[in-house]
Amino acid sequence: MKKKLIAGNWKMNGSLAANEALVKALLAGLATPACQVALCVPSIYLGQLQTLVAGSAIEMGAQDLSAHEAGAFTGETSAAMLREFGVRYCLVGHSERRQYHFETDALVAAKAQRALAGGITPIVCVGETLAEREAGKTEEVVKRQLAAVIHANGHCISEIVVAYEPVWAIGTGKTASTEQAQQVHAVLRAQLHAASEHADRIHILYGGSMNAANAAQLLAQPDIDGGLVGGASLKAPDFLSIIASAR
Ligand code: PGA
Repeated sequence: MKKKLIAGNWKMNGSLAANEALVKALLAGLATPACQVALCVPSIYLGQLQTLVAGSAIEMGAQDLSAHEAGAFTGETSAAMLREFGVRYCLVGHSERRQYHFETDALVAAKAQRALAGGITPIVCVGETLAEREAGKTEEVVKRQLAAVIHANGHCISEIVVAYEPVWAIGTGKTASTEQAQQVHAVLRAQLHAASEHADRIHILYGGSMNAANAAQLLAQPDIDGGLVGGASLKAPDFLSIIASAR
């Protein structure tokens, strides 16, 4: 059985001092985790993180990358640049990127493709808004978002990670119930199986107000292979407790 993956998403939080204190506290409490652990941090801090986590069980993640290989794209960061700093994972299509930066399904698919070509595992985020859930469109929306990535990436699809993050549960303290989450994860799993005979190895993470109190129950679901953790990843005791419940 594959190990679970717990990825922290710091979003646009942190400072040199705060990062150092947080990562040192995590390393002190981590020993040998039963799961895989990654931190997706603002790109500007990747160099600092690389030094802090060297030789440890914590893997490095970024929060976004360019869909282009290199060139005149002011403000963007390429897959090759991320690799140079030891980045293993990169979030792609987080709902905040889709919402505030107008990222489309096609752009998200292109970014996933660029990440894979550059040796980085994209963590492809999908999820419905509250209005979409209330309109009964949850499955339609997440399947459409994932289909774009499957279409663009063909047989490489077994190399991605998927994160189901209901938009209404992100940063709101409202978690999807274990049943709601498992139901969507099963839909995504079936879609991945239809696309690849190696779909079993794909991690499908749950994200959206995962915390120390609800993680164990969510992670016990058959199709929940880990978590993408925002707010709770900024507090060492909370993040360590989520990691401890991922076995
Ligand atoms: P949250 O964020 O855990 O703070 O809800 C999750 C995410 O947006 O990745």
